[in-house]
Amino acid sequence: MIIRPRRLRTTSAMRSLVAETRVHPAQLVLPVFVADGLTEPAPITSLPGVVQHTLRSVADEARLAVDAGLKGIMLFGVPKPEDKDAYGSMGWAPDGILNRGLSAVRDAVGDDLVVMADTCLDEFTDHGHCGVLDQVGRVDNDATLERYVELAVSQAVAGAHVVGPSGMMDGQVLAIRTGLDAAGFDDVAILAYAAKYASAFYGPFREAVNSSLSGDRRTYQQDPANRREGVREAALDEAEGADLLMVKPAGYYLDVLADVAAQSSVPVAAYHVSGEYAMVWAAAERGWIDRDRALAEAVTAIVRAGAHIVLTYAAIELAKGLS
Ligand code: PBG
Repeated sequence: MIIRPRRLRTTSAMRSLVAETRVHPAQLVLPVFVADGLTEPAPITSLPGVVQHTLRSVADEARLAVDAGLKGIMLFGVPKPEDKDAYGSMGWAPDGILNRGLSAVRDAVGDDLVVMADTCLDEFTDHGHCGVLDQVGRVDNDATLERYVELAVSQAVAGAHVVGPSGMMDGQVLAIRTGLDAAGFDDVAILAYAAKYASAFYGPFREAVNSSLSGDRRTYQQDPANRREGVREAALDEAEGADLLMVKPAGYYLDVLADVAAQSSVPVAAYHVSGEYAMVWAAAERGWIDRDRALAEAVTAIVRAGAHIVLTYAAIELAKGLS
């Protein structure tokens, strides 16, 4: 035998030397939840290690992210139940919890982190859908776009460097780009949730944001059966002016991620979502899996498939392990 692939696996130094994929803290983004009316951070049962933050604790968490070497943070707002309405108007209210959270984080970290906002209505609507409904209860695409523009502009005013439309409305990137530019925010970037699937793996997120959704999102989020459609959605968003693209969930959609990374010319992010994270914790709690190794392996696989940026609830722990 002349060729022995095991020669390149003999020592830790050798394995490290020949590693094809390296995950760096600078490519990890921490998703965080900021909730209205809390005096103390509140644990999220189905997302161990993750909390609903107060305005004060979210700023502290952002500083920890800077210290760990992260370069990005993604904020989600959790309004009081009584503040939800049919349009999600607390989303774009200047004193809405997400906008206050964005300001608190931006004040705390300045430009040391890229401050990103989830640009979606589902946390703020009483029916829990990502858009506004028409008279027969369908999610009204074009009426929703007007709300997304207001939401994105309010997030830019609050200090977001990046807005992240995640509602899968057609034309959302172009509408938001046009609205941001008209309001003087041509420097604010758009991270388009380009290929976002109607996934069961968002389960714990629903608890994290106290979601009131009944029914599902299958008329706007993609069918998990479709690979080529992910590429189509990403190409449309890039043509509409997306600065960054996202594939979500990540681990079960590595084929889509690889295709999007190969076929687009902007950086591609992938979101290791709540269910993907929670499953690892749940198995680890039973002693069935090594949590830290499993999370690191998941993120390595996502980067190997082509992601330049990974959103993960484990970003700080992973970054510490990497440095
Ligand atoms: C919608 C949104 C969702 C997630 C991020 N943005 C939920 C959904 O589409 O139902 C899920 C993230 C996760 O599961 O970690 N605003």
